[in-house]
Amino acid sequence: MKYHLTSFGCQMNDHDSERMRGVLEGLGYEASADRDGADLIMFNTCTIRGSADDRFMGNLGDARRIKRERPDAVVAVGGCWAQSQKDAIFTDYPFVDIAFGPGEVARLGELIARERIEAVGAFSLDGAFSGQLPAKRERSFQAWVQISVGCNCVCSYCIVPRVRGRERSRPLAEIVGEVEALAADGVVEVTLLGQNVNSYGRDLPAAERATFAEVLRAVGAVDGIRRVRYTSPHPKDMRGDVIAAMAETPEVCAHVHLPAQSGSTRVLKAMRRTYSRERYLELVQRIRDGIPDVSLTTDLIVGFPGETDADFADTLSLVDEVRYDGAYTFLYSPRPGTEAGESMDDDVPAEVKRERIQELIADVQDHARERARRFVGSTRDVLVEGPSRTDPQRLRGRLEQNIAVNFTGDATPGATVPVEITDATSTTLAGRMAAHVTA
Ligand code: SAH
Ligand code: SF4
Ligand code: F3S
Repeated sequence: MKYHLTSFGCQMNDHDSERMRGVLEGLGYEASADRDGADLIMFNTCTIRGSADDRFMGNLGDARRIKRERPDAVVAVGGCWAQSQKDAIFTDYPFVDIAFGPGEVARLGELIARERIEAVGAFSLDGAFSGQLPAKRERSFQAWVQISVGCNCVCSYCIVPRVRGRERSRPLAEIVGEVEALAADGVVEVTLLGQNVNSYGRDLPAAERATFAEVLRAVGAVDGIRRVRYTSPHPKDMRGDVIAAMAETPEVCAHVHLPAQSGSTRVLKAMRRTYSRERYLELVQRIRDGIPDVSLTTDLIVGFPGETDADFADTLSLVDEVRYDGAYTFLYSPRPGTEAGESMDDDVPAEVKRERIQELIADVQDHARERARRFVGSTRDVLVEGPSRTDPQRLRGRLEQNIAVNFTGDATPGATVPVEITDATSTTLAGRMAAHVTA
């Protein structure tokens, strides 16, 4: 039996997908190179913006065609879009055999076994952590580790709490146990995952209560782990203890992805982000004071309902004040069932949104290029990831600041090597392997 899995969405979904592969291969399924050669056609879906839905619809149409040609093929749809459609998925898409939400990855094996009887759906939001399942990792030396699922925030634009449920934390002992097992299996870099990692632990029973700062220290202390990353923190919950843990744990990388969403306090309020522009900037200052040479990246939304030219100018000036090392920029997309999607007019014209995002991207890139130049001339530790995507003669890796480097030299993936940085663009650095690190 063969399966084909297409994964959409964020790192949480990528992580769930590697667990799905692990479960399927444990059941004896083999990966198929294409959908037409697969007995089981699976999707792990995202619904964060309308564009995510659109992309998936094209793929789902392909599954419908295959099901017409080969009625024996099984079509399974998991993830956030499936969760958002749970009431209507089997009536609207009758060729779908199995549907399950992100909280039900752990039940995949059971669902597949039952499918022959009737179409099955599973949508509870408090199932087991997918982090407990076997995984098929993309790279042997890097791994994602789920520390919490769900989100208790009420950001007015965001559908995630609806499709991933309330926040639940995994006990620290379980996280450390998983990291120890990964390290024994050759993993040197872990990325801790949660929708709001630094509200970690508040829901744990008193005897197991722990903070995100404690998670960082405990994971950094695991033998064999050289790099610890995490995503994403919410600015409202980023406290001094996390900054101190980052500064005092050499394994924790000097990079913070700190989603700002907007530079306008008025818009931040309508977004229910619960911090002001000023508080965000103070936090940036504390992070920069506490963690030497830290890189900062962010997420920004343009065209939120009611965003004026002046609000947008505030976002541009936030970018100019912070000088990010990189940013993901998004066009606001109204989502069904969210506060903004239901009760605020999507009133910024599409054309204005497009102009704003272009201006924002150009501004972000200018700063990223400028910031990246600070590495030129120094020699840094680089974790080798494999051959360069554009030039197989060269290698590709990352600085602890999460900036990609293409370089000449001879090293195996998973090794950490010194690289002299010779050139910089807004997204990548170039260099050559050196004898030792200087910075
Ligand atoms: N939990 C993470 C982010 C999850 S979604 C966090 O809070 O950092 C990733 C990004 O998608 C968000 O940070 C936001 O910038 C963007 N996003 C979410 N909903 C959106 C929407 N309705 N329209 C446009 N962008 C959105
Ligand atoms: Fe969405 Fe806000 Fe939660 Fe992030 S913190 S997942 S943006 S509700
Ligand atoms: Fe991630 Fe998309 Fe779900 S961004 S949490 S896969 S809606």
